Amino acid sequence: MSSTVDLFDKCLAFEDAKRVQAAGVYPFFRPIESTIGSSVVTHGKRRVMIGSNNYLGLTHHPRVQASAKRAIDRFGTGCTGSRFLNGNLILHEELEERLAAFLNKEACLVFSTGFLSNQGAISAIMGRNDVIYSDRENHASIIEGTRVAVGDTLKFKHNNMEDLERVLETSRSKYEGALIVADGVFSMSGDIFNLPRAVELAEKYRCRLYIDDAHSIGVLGPKGQGTEFHFNLSNKVDLLMGTFSKSFASIGGFIAGSNDVIHYIKHKSRPFMFSAAMPPAAAATVLECLNIVEEEPEHLENLWKNARKMSKGLVEMGYNTLNSQTPVIPLLIGDDFMAFSFTQKLYEHGVFATPVVRPAVPEGCALIRTSYMASHTDQDLDYVLGVLNDLGKAYEIIGNRDREQQLAELAQTHFGVATV
Ligand SMILES: Cc1ncc(COP(=O)(O)O)c(C=O)c1O
Repeated sequence: MSSTVDLFDKCLAFEDAKRVQAAGVYPFFRPIESTIGSSVVTHGKRRVMIGSNNYLGLTHHPRVQASAKRAIDRFGTGCTGSRFLNGNLILHEELEERLAAFLNKEACLVFSTGFLSNQGAISAIMGRNDVIYSDRENHASIIEGTRVAVGDTLKFKHNNMEDLERVLETSRSKYEGALIVADGVFSMSGDIFNLPRAVELAEKYRCRLYIDDAHSIGVLGPKGQGTEFHFNLSNKVDLLMGTFSKSFASIGGFIAGSNDVIHYIKHKSRPFMFSAAMPPAAAATVLECLNIVEEEPEHLENLWKNARKMSKGLVEMGYNTLNSQTPVIPLLIGDDFMAFSFTQKLYEHGVFATPVVRPAVPEGCALIRTSYMASHTDQDLDYVLGVLNDLGKAYEIIGNRDREQQLAELAQTHFGVATV
């Protein structure tokens, strides 16, 4: 008997995105015609970008661009094979050595993307009788890694160390090895993982600790070495993951740890072994970014100056930013459709931002994710603050006591954040 259901029926029935498109507020896949520092040109108009992860603003640094061009001249445009076989460049190996030194780790392994780094490292390291303890708000690539990995995954409430301990207490003895996994800075809410307490719990319950520092490398710590350095806990994280698609102005990712563990992942991780290597220009870009991070501290200083200015300005206006302490500053909106509509109005007023709706955040907790860069000028930021002030009032996200109270309750219930 054949089925009456066709494989593609679900595609025909999928209406969510089409409804948003029909309402004229679809905010995704906007084609960028060019980028200029902190702005982009889309639909023929220049707009201030506040939705990028280019934290240090290095994508347009002349030294970075020259380095990428030199790499193309020397190695061509692509590696045309995996590192395991024919695509391993001296640039990849130099990058691994430089990163290991920068992060105070014994060894490092460079993957083609950050997503593959999480998927490939987590799945390689887990055995059938092992367990992962995963924060509920972890990035999709970590979730993908936990799905591909054999063994069990148990979740704990977002950044909630009491809940992590509760889960550890009730389950740890049932398993052999264990891995606690979390983002160092959470990509949507911008909050910093409670690493000091997680280190204690990892020691107490004999777990290894895995931190995804995609949004912390280049941002936290005296030179941007990430959450370990931010908390003065150098080398307490067993496996440190990072990506080059944010502060390091490129594409690619890495996992850093001890020699033996990195050697093991290098020879066991299928997403590493069977995917083409990071292109030469991308690797050379990151190498030059590392030089710049060492030699030009002003980028990190500007990033924090801008992040602090925006955080202060937005909180003073009455926005609920979930108490973010990083350059990722969410604006809590609540309703999905309102977040789409608000983002569309921002766009029409020359500000490019992105909304975050379920399933990336809990139902009814839509955000507009804003993020700031070293390359934003005061003029850019004052302009953005002016637009956000006007629109926030028009949408009654700010300037309305009852609404602000409702949003504070949402922040407490769903993100565990006490805001006034
Ligand atoms: C926390 C986190 N981890 C991993 C990734 C994946 O990195 P990439 O874009 O380099 O694949 C991202 C990027 O969105 C991220 O935000």
